[in-house]
Amino acid sequence: MSMAQDKMVSALSEQEIEEIEAEISHLPNRQAAAIDALKIVQGHRGWISDESLGAIANLLQMSTAELDGIATFYSLIFRQPVGEKVVMVCDSVSCFLMDGETVSKSIKEKLGIDFGETTSDGKYTLLPVTCLGDCDHAPAMMIGDEEHHDLKPETVGKLFDDASKRSGDDAS
Ligand code: FES
Repeated sequence: MSMAQDKMVSALSEQEIEEIEAEISHLPNRQAAAIDALKIVQGHRGWISDESLGAIANLLQMSTAELDGIATFYSLIFRQPVGEKVVMVCDSVSCFLMDGETVSKSIKEKLGIDFGETTSDGKYTLLPVTCLGDCDHAPAMMIGDEEHHDLKPETVGKLFDDASKRSGDDAS
């Protein structure tokens, strides 16, 4: 391995490398682990920096541009820093028809941010996403890894108060 390659790989922790190698071991080639590898590193760091992207590409023996293309295509991989929790609000047709736009407006007012922004306390990043697969209970959103559906503009704000209380409990 060259010194440059050494430096790239050291941008990943030993644990991350171990987890990625474990994925690779079930797959026909190293490149097939691209999305899993991105998810593993995002799971540890919250998002994928240019440095991490380069190191993962190096580990998978593919070009950074190729891996960046995959990361950009896959909307759940974040290429910029995000808040502690990412709030993903569905903006696809069923949610739209069930007053999703008014729900989004209430969420934006509650958090004081627009789509693509992070609250000043670093708690939440708000993003629109395509269908979450919960159309029969539209409108739907995710707060971190919790799904919420049948949202109502007048009560959606309370979900964030509840989520904050739970994080407070976790921390105690
Ligand atoms: S359209 Fe929103 S969950 Fe499917």
